[in-house]
Amino acid sequence: MSHRRVAILISGGGSNMLALVRSMTGAHPARPCLVLSNVRGAGGLARAAALGIPVACVDHRSFGADRAGFEAALNDALAPHAPDILCLAGFMRILTPVFTACWAGRMLNIHPSLLPKYPGLHTHARAIAAGDREAGCSVHEVTADLDAGPILGQARVPVLPGDTPESLAARVLEQEHRLYPAVLRRFAADDRRPVLLP
Ligand code: GRF
Repeated sequence: MSHRRVAILISGGGSNMLALVRSMTGAHPARPCLVLSNVRGAGGLARAAALGIPVACVDHRSFGADRAGFEAALNDALAPHAPDILCLAGFMRILTPVFTACWAGRMLNIHPSLLPKYPGLHTHARAIAAGDREAGCSVHEVTADLDAGPILGQARVPVLPGDTPESLAARVLEQEHRLYPAVLRRFAADDRRPVLLP
């Protein structure tokens, strides 16, 4: 069986990348083909390399405000590995509509909130400040609108009394590591049924 080839884009430690990589074994229809970071020295690059996965870095700082140039360099780094699917996993750069159009229908992202609530940053602090009793994470297809594409899966966690953004983030992150692999497995099999956890 020819596997779907998955490139994973990261900016930091890559815990979601690791969860995805560890899930792509056996009968899973996909395999990792590249881990790509915009941050030189991102911890996830060393972790991926240690697992024998090809890695690359396109440092966005080299491009300044030239987002088009940065994204062209991203595609140049991706092309030799011929990915079928891109997974953004803790990737902290906003992509232009040109890049999202080029990968439309083939690019996923995980966001640490129950979208459509709290697109953007500081999601846990916002949920706590709003007095929400539930929080969680969402995997969605990436479109031109930030954190707004079709939702492919969600996982919910309780917000507990005394929670801080850090304690809530840790609880959500555990669920990200369950949700993203489950969504990718369906997505790579062309199964678009949403994954809802628990
Ligand atoms: C985490 O805050 C996670 O919620 C979000 O990206 C951040 C880093 O994730 N998806 P990772 O550990 O680099 O995968």
